[in-house]
Amino acid sequence: MKIGILTGGGDCPGLNAVIRAVTVRAIKQYGDEVVGIRNGWRGLVDDEMAPLGYEDVAGVIDLGGTILGTSRTNPIGDSGMMTKIEETIRGAGLDGVIAVGGDDTLGVCLGLHREGYPTVGVPKTIDNDLRGTDYTFGFQTAVTIATEAADRLRTTAASHHRFMVLEVMGRHAGWIALESGMAAGADLILVPEFPFDLDEVCATLKSCHDRKGHAVLVVAEGAHERDATPNLITQHKELDAFGNVMLGGAGPLLANRIAEQTGIQTRATVLGYVQRGGPPVAFDRVLGTRFGVAAIDAVHRGGFGKMVALRGETIGLTPLEEAVAGFKLVDRDTWKAAEALFG
Ligand code: F6P
Repeated sequence: MKIGILTGGGDCPGLNAVIRAVTVRAIKQYGDEVVGIRNGWRGLVDDEMAPLGYEDVAGVIDLGGTILGTSRTNPIGDSGMMTKIEETIRGAGLDGVIAVGGDDTLGVCLGLHREGYPTVGVPKTIDNDLRGTDYTFGFQTAVTIATEAADRLRTTAASHHRFMVLEVMGRHAGWIALESGMAAGADLILVPEFPFDLDEVCATLKSCHDRKGHAVLVVAEGAHERDATPNLITQHKELDAFGNVMLGGAGPLLANRIAEQTGIQTRATVLGYVQRGGPPVAFDRVLGTRFGVAAIDAVHRGGFGKMVALRGETIGLTPLEEAVAGFKLVDRDTWKAAEALFG
């Protein structure tokens, strides 16, 4: 078989582990020909592909980002793009397309499957907000980076008797904030799923300050007040090809309001793209490798229209319909367990 692989959406640590596993498994187990599709779905629209062999994936497992490049190109609903995709897949004689991405990329994967194309999805996002899989690769690396940042902020908070606010990513779900905040022993964590009341936030922080002279607050970029409209803090108003706004700025805004309301020095740090870059932790390398192997096996077993997934310790297949039907959000029980230690 001839199989193409692409990486779409935000980059994240572990993508190259997937590309490596797909390539090596395909050649060693099945004698397949593998091509790397450049820059997400854009590569199929522009017919930008190149062969992938052992030498192309040697030494990339610990490399951040994606050697194929990525984009947020959305061909669904664009007849011109869809025609070009048809021509590229037919012209190249692709028997399968493996799409590594988050909800947007996998939504296109499903759309193309419904049009009759042989697509298989691999779940990728630092946000860990995809349904149908216990974890996505990239998430543990982001949590590790954010935890170290929060640990470092706590020492400066204690030294200056300040409040330190760390803003982390997570477009729709607060998983990064929740797990890095818990791991760092943050005094307060704010996530989109459970909108906050500013007076309550300030009261909790003041209580910490009275007791130990400082506090650390981890806030997800999508966190917002209960009755705020608009409730998201955005960098600008432009939308990407999937209609996503660019979030960012909740941390600094919140820090200013906390300082005003409590009279205590408050500083914000926006972790931004640092939590998405650089080498993957071992968990994400292993999960990416397991996903890559399973994706090639799925192509050979006709598992089209599905996404490889981690369920407990087992790698299986989840229908793409389930994966893109909504987001995996922080549930109340998990939230309550974290909230028990706030303040
Ligand atoms: O979806 C992953 C993610 O990193 C989100 O956490 C973040 O809000 C978004 O991508 C940023 O998008 P971009 O890389 O296009 O700025």
